[in-house]
Amino acid sequence: VITYSVTNQKGGVGKTVITAALGACLAELGYQVLLVDLDPQGHLTTGATGLPPTEPPVTLANAMLGEWIGYPKLLIASWRDRLDVIPTNLDGFLLDQRLIPLRGREYQLARVLEPLADDYDFCLIDAPPSLGILTDNALVAAGRVLIPVQALDSSLAALQLLIDQIRSLEQSLGVSVEIAGLVLNQYDARRGTVVTTAREALESLSVPMLGVVHDRAVINESWRRHVPLIEHAPDSTSAAEFRQLARLVAGRAAV
Ligand SMILES: Nc1ncnc2c1ncn2[C@@H]1O[C@H](COP(=O)(O)OP(=O)(O)OP(=O)(O)O)[C@@H](O)[C@H]1O
Ligand SMILES: [Mg+2]
Repeated sequence: VITYSVTNQKGGVGKTVITAALGACLAELGYQVLLVDLDPQGHLTTGATGLPPTEPPVTLANAMLGEWIGYPKLLIASWRDRLDVIPTNLDGFLLDQRLIPLRGREYQLARVLEPLADDYDFCLIDAPPSLGILTDNALVAAGRVLIPVQALDSSLAALQLLIDQIRSLEQSLGVSVEIAGLVLNQYDARRGTVVTTAREALESLSVPMLGVVHDRAVINESWRRHVPLIEHAPDSTSAAEFRQLARLVAGRAAV
């Protein structure tokens, strides 16, 4: 399995939209895909996919805390063909706090997902908008990160903070986390030079820009219907943008 953490501590940049839409495109390409809702807000679960949250005592949080030990298949729900989800549960809100005293607290998601490695080609982790232990768990479990960004000056500062966090995590734990690249989301050049110059600044960084997703109503519509974007609007420009991103992600994996 090749795992990406879709991460940015900045809120509302498109982590959940990209997790759901990119996952569906990878499944369309024929890959077995697992999405993990690591955000206690549960937007991937109840919002994007419309799946019910899991119930204690068998939740992702229970598993990460070692309160439930078993084959993680029991955590998984099916959303579409070849597209599975590990939903969140409200107990996730306490997870960050409760992981703090655990030995190996940054490795708990990796431990839970490990038995599934041969069942999937790709795993995408929807990380929460914070730089806490949950995000560290996502980064460690994935070893690769996709960073959604918006073309705003504030996104550049947030991005630097995230890159610093990744580097310090690598140093303190001795793990390696590859910054696979940025996905510029909700792009709308009509908003003027503040947006176009911010895009130029993002593109001049040493981190590759893997894709651009424009601001489009179909994205919110597919979310409301709880169906993948490529199913809701298969011929839209947004679907084409995500299919292109999926081909790139899949192509990088093949190298
Ligand atoms: N390209 C887009 N076009 C139109 N709307 C979008 C686009 N990307 C995201 N949105 C909308 O913006 C909102 C935030 O997106 P999303 O929830 O994916 O961000 P997030 O980074 O996961 O947020 P959080 O930090 O709260 O987890 C959602 O309502 C979503 O529907
Ligand atoms: Mg989200």
